[in-house]
Amino acid sequence: MLLLGIESSCDETAAAVLAEGPRVVSSVVASQLDTHAKYGGVVPELASREHLRAIVPVVAEAMEKASARYPDLAAIAVTEGPGLVGSLLVGLTFAKSLAMAHRLPLIAVNHLEGHIHAVVMEARADGFEIELPAVALVASGGHTHLFTVEPEYRYTLLGRTRDDAAGEAYDKVAKLLGFGYPGGPVIDQLAPHGNPTAFPFTFAKMKGNTLDFSFSGMKTAVLRWFEARDLSAGLSARRALLKHTPRPSVDEWLAVTPRETLDLLASFQHAVVRELLRRAHQAVESTAARALIVSGGVASNRGLRAAATERALGCPVFFPTPALSTDNAAMIAAAAFPKFHRRDFADFSLKAQAGLTLA
Ligand code: KG4
Ligand code: ZN
Repeated sequence: MLLLGIESSCDETAAAVLAEGPRVVSSVVASQLDTHAKYGGVVPELASREHLRAIVPVVAEAMEKASARYPDLAAIAVTEGPGLVGSLLVGLTFAKSLAMAHRLPLIAVNHLEGHIHAVVMEARADGFEIELPAVALVASGGHTHLFTVEPEYRYTLLGRTRDDAAGEAYDKVAKLLGFGYPGGPVIDQLAPHGNPTAFPFTFAKMKGNTLDFSFSGMKTAVLRWFEARDLSAGLSARRALLKHTPRPSVDEWLAVTPRETLDLLASFQHAVVRELLRRAHQAVESTAARALIVSGGVASNRGLRAAATERALGCPVFFPTPALSTDNAAMIAAAAFPKFHRRDFADFSLKAQAGLTLA
């Protein structure tokens, strides 16, 4: 039994074919990074245009790599939301047309549920069945959410960011310090070269729900230190480097980044990781969860992964491999399997929902 998954919620056009298990048979991701990098963030109009260009060849490649034909498919799964409406529309309209033309059922998937299922699928492939109830931390460029995952994949929202998402904070700090877009991977690579305790970041104190996050204060703290310590040395050299080399190597970055800036990056990452894990730990304790699932683009952060294994979080912790932590369509098809077995199909009036929630 094969499912085709289609994902286009942000700046990646992706398609994947999965077999029962679920098991990835093929997965194709066309990234728009180079288009958006020069603007320092995702430009929605450009994103939908790029999706339009990429959707047909990306789906064709996924089908071809899986040696699958449309009659071999049991259904087509597509991201319904949340995301950029113009981007979502491209994947959704294409999935609907395919389903209609080939008389296949359509399955609507929440992007955040996809991120969670990427981890469930990989753990299963490694021989681990993640015990439920679990806590899921989904941290990406657009979201920082804590959910409980209950049997039959029902979700309750435990906490969320009140301002910036964790990935967004990485992207804003990187932009401010001249490291380009996206910021997460660069800061992650440079953080081990700095002192994580050089700059003291204070914990955000939360009124109300203590499982909520706040990252905008950390970004402001970086800006304050940047100005107070006059860390502008190297800034124009980094901007010049980015102009000539779209993706500089660690050594190229190190050549134009003074020690104090590396310390600031290391301290920022240390503070983000501490904040994410502190709330995740609290969530595990308050729900007596049997497992912690960490997912979304920020889950590929090496500092976060190392800290999560070192720190006693009260239960086993599961991360996706880097390829399945950032946006992809395998996770969308993976989340569709339980829905397929429940015959939970969408009809053709399905609409893109930019602000779709999971719980
Ligand atoms: O899940 P994703 O691909 O797209 C969204 O749904 O947003 O996540 C992208 C985000 C970006 O903000 C990027 O800077 C961040 O994930 N990211 C990282 C790392 N790799 C990607 N953040 C921290 N460390 C990383 N290694
Ligand atoms: Zn995502």
